[in-house]
Amino acid sequence: MTSPSLADHDTIRAVQWQGDCLRLLDQRKLPFVEDWLDCRSAAAVAQAVRDLVVRGAPAIGIAAAWGVVLAAQGGDDLERAMALLRAARPTAVNLMAALDRMHACMAGGADAASLTRTAQAIQDEDLAANRAMGAMGAAWLQRGSGVLTHCNTGSLATAGFGTALGVIRAGYAAGNIVRVFADETRPWLQGARLTMWELQRDGIPATLIADSAASHLMKSGQVQWVIVGADRIAANGDTANKIGTYQLAIAARHHGARFMVVAPSTTVDMATPAGDAIDIELRDPAELLGYAGQRTVVEGARAWNPVFDVTPHDLVDVLVTERGVITQPDVDAMRAVFGNDGTN
Ligand code: MRU
Repeated sequence: MTSPSLADHDTIRAVQWQGDCLRLLDQRKLPFVEDWLDCRSAAAVAQAVRDLVVRGAPAIGIAAAWGVVLAAQGGDDLERAMALLRAARPTAVNLMAALDRMHACMAGGADAASLTRTAQAIQDEDLAANRAMGAMGAAWLQRGSGVLTHCNTGSLATAGFGTALGVIRAGYAAGNIVRVFADETRPWLQGARLTMWELQRDGIPATLIADSAASHLMKSGQVQWVIVGADRIAANGDTANKIGTYQLAIAARHHGARFMVVAPSTTVDMATPAGDAIDIELRDPAELLGYAGQRTVVEGARAWNPVFDVTPHDLVDVLVTERGVITQPDVDAMRAVFGNDGTN
């Protein structure tokens, strides 16, 4: 693999504020159609979050912040708009963190202009956090590493650059990563449809595997690090992320690969003591019973579709946040960085 400059590996911005609407790259249609959806109200943003037009924990927080700005511009009831946005998806705490920050701004008597500045700050800070985490995480990777990632944690899922995919971008540019594997990520195929698109577009060669090939791949010795993002990290370091992450952590421990979680502080929820208390989103079983509108399972069959799982903290080797790297996260290590309420 050759390693051109980092800028070559960071070209996508999927959440774009236009001054009077929020323009979202429609992730339901990727990789074959690059279509943009303009949202002109908080209700339209909430719908886009629910329908996965925009997805990924930081990106939905950023989108929600802009939804509040749209509500303010339209003279809507801001409390109602925030409640609508908050209810769009339950697991990723970045959504709640962004809305809490917008609420604090509003409670301070802010007008639309200062709500706009706060939404822009939320977006800009996410990009800066991702760049910082990319550098910190990449420094942990020994030269010649093979990595496996899950779901999509890249520019599409954030303000840009990505969390786990940011570490992969930085690690590849530094020459530390020589092999990248991406899981398909059934049933919505974030890995196959989104991560493979991002990596190819930004010139990072990657190999797609079926989710069920992960243990077999790790046994072959080609993966030194499993690198994933997170949707909510509890006070003891338990980590909710895309369904299938937990089994990757178990397989990594069994095969001697190391397991890295990369997430900004907006994903840390010190008010949730442990993973058991995290609300795991259950989506429509239809996502499992067919694909692209085509039924693939016999009529009358039932399906269970939890879209996140919780990896216990003792399976996490390294947690990278923009506030620093925590090895073997537990309640004491988390408190040392985030305090009791995330405000350190
Ligand atoms: O259902 P999704 O696609 O929103 O789930 C996304 C994930 O699980 C990501 O891994 C997580 O949000 C981290 S994104 C930087």
